[in-house]
Amino acid sequence: MTTPAGDSLPIASNDDVVRVRQLVRTAAASAGMSLVDQTKIVTAASELARNTFVHGGGGTARVESVVNARGRAGVRLVFTDEGGGIPDVAQALTEGWTSGGGLGLGLPGARRLADEFELETEVGKGTTVTVTKWIR
Ligand SMILES: Nc1ncnc2c1ncn2[C@@H]1O[C@H](COP(=O)(O)OP(=O)(O)OP(=O)(O)O)[C@@H](O)[C@H]1O
Ligand SMILES: [Mg+2]
Repeated sequence: MTTPAGDSLPIASNDDVVRVRQLVRTAAASAGMSLVDQTKIVTAASELARNTFVHGGGGTARVESVVNARGRAGVRLVFTDEGGGIPDVAQALTEGWTSGGGLGLGLPGARRLADEFELETEVGKGTTVTVTKWIR
């Protein structure tokens, strides 16, 4: 079950990336996440927000409170853009691969830091990355 209550933020500048980080930190803390897990999801959020801005040409971040079928609570983040998309997802998820300028660590790092990771992309249409971290 997903609680529809969530916040959406635009990602169109570096300041927006900072705001996304802050919102995710607040949401994770108020969900009762440990400090270590808060840092993990904030780091993932930071990388994904930066990708939305830099590679996706900007977009939005949604921060949702979720509860699974067993009543376990978590925080889910959805990053959406309508940029050029990712032609080769396996390549993009490879540590050290960058289409230019970066370290190629953001996407694989975000996947590792989250409990669940989903990437939907279509060339010429855009990209949506969804990550979830459960309270343990
Ligand atoms: N939202 C997106 N839209 C289009 N391409 C993307 C998007 N996110 C990631 N990519 C592609 O996937 C590649 C790998 O992303 P990743 O975050 O791992 O590395 P990076 O952004 O290049 O460098 P780093 O994040 O380490 O500074 C990017 O270089 C880019 O080509
Ligand atoms: Mg990146």
